[in-house]
Amino acid sequence: MQIGFVGLGRMGQAMVPRLLECGFAVQVWNRTPGRATPLLALGATQADSLPALASHCDLTFTMLTDDGAVEAVFSPTSGLLAGEVAGKLFIEMSTIRPSTIHTVAALARERGASLLDAPMSGTVGPARSGQLLALVGGAAADVERARPVLEALCRRVAHVGPSGSGTTMKLVLNMPMAIYWQALAESLALGSQAGLDLAQMLDLIADSPAGIGALRIKIPVILGEQQPVAFDVTGVRKDLLAMTATAQLHGVPTPTGSAALASFAAATAAGHGTEDLAALIPYYIELVRKTAGQ
Ligand SMILES: NC(=O)c1ccc[n+]([C@@H]2O[C@H](COP(=O)([O-])OP(=O)(O)OC[C@H]3O[C@@H](n4cnc5c(N)ncnc54)[C@H](OP(=O)(O)O)[C@@H]3O)[C@@H](O)[C@H]2O)c1
Repeated sequence: MQIGFVGLGRMGQAMVPRLLECGFAVQVWNRTPGRATPLLALGATQADSLPALASHCDLTFTMLTDDGAVEAVFSPTSGLLAGEVAGKLFIEMSTIRPSTIHTVAALARERGASLLDAPMSGTVGPARSGQLLALVGGAAADVERARPVLEALCRRVAHVGPSGSGTTMKLVLNMPMAIYWQALAESLALGSQAGLDLAQMLDLIADSPAGIGALRIKIPVILGEQQPVAFDVTGVRKDLLAMTATAQLHGVPTPTGSAALASFAAATAAGHGTEDLAALIPYYIELVRKTAGQ
């Protein structure tokens, strides 16, 4: 089976080597073509264009920044859906809005192709070692067709319902976590203003029921250590925008989601957008300190 992979950012750079290691033939395309170079050295091939990749590959993954990127890549005039795609299967893995999945899935269907939404829970490390959790929306027959390849990337493949439901499930999973970082920022700002030690607060929170699984690995970043960025502040802002907008469509009020969105947007506007998402915390503590005139 010939696999296509579009989007060689942080996640793509981890997932393509995993697919190659598992024995799949992989053809890649990236908007900035030079990012393919390390993957070509591992045995991937590079397509000249998106329509050429789509017609060459049986199954094509996309892993892209946001809704705008997904719409551009699936463009029926210049993107994946511009060529001969009847019978092809697309697997869209980005964290985006379900409404965008409905649009691109309909365009794919009109051209005789199928599309699954399969956003991934897990970050760069699990992507590299095939330990992701796939949240899949779409037809059961397409999920079974994709399963051998998804299982190379994932510790678990969960089919959660029809087209768009995988993407909705991803927003459901990530929303409490995005809000958690803002809640943590507020509690640590309280402690800091009252004179408690930041490292000790983090150590004790992580050792209590208030510490989520992702906290311990973020502690060095919160304390100022420079580490490779797995997911950034503006990425969480993008997710929270998708969560609150999708909740509105369903008539669901999201007061804490909206508050977290305002904070991640302010941190982005203050120049922290490309920093690790945990940079929200030192940013917020400093903001509170300055506001207090200290
Ligand atoms: N990083 C994580 O830990 C993580 C975990 C789970 C899910 N996710 C989700 O996975 C997706 C990708 O994340 P990432 O961290 O890999 O992002 P990333 O490092 O920022 O990479 C984004 C990719 O999208 C491409 N792109 C952006 N705009 C485009 C456009 N208009 N047309 C064509 N290509 C475009 C970029 O191409 P260029 O190279 O040309 O910029 C790059 O290949 C996001 O939706 C994210 O929320 C991320």
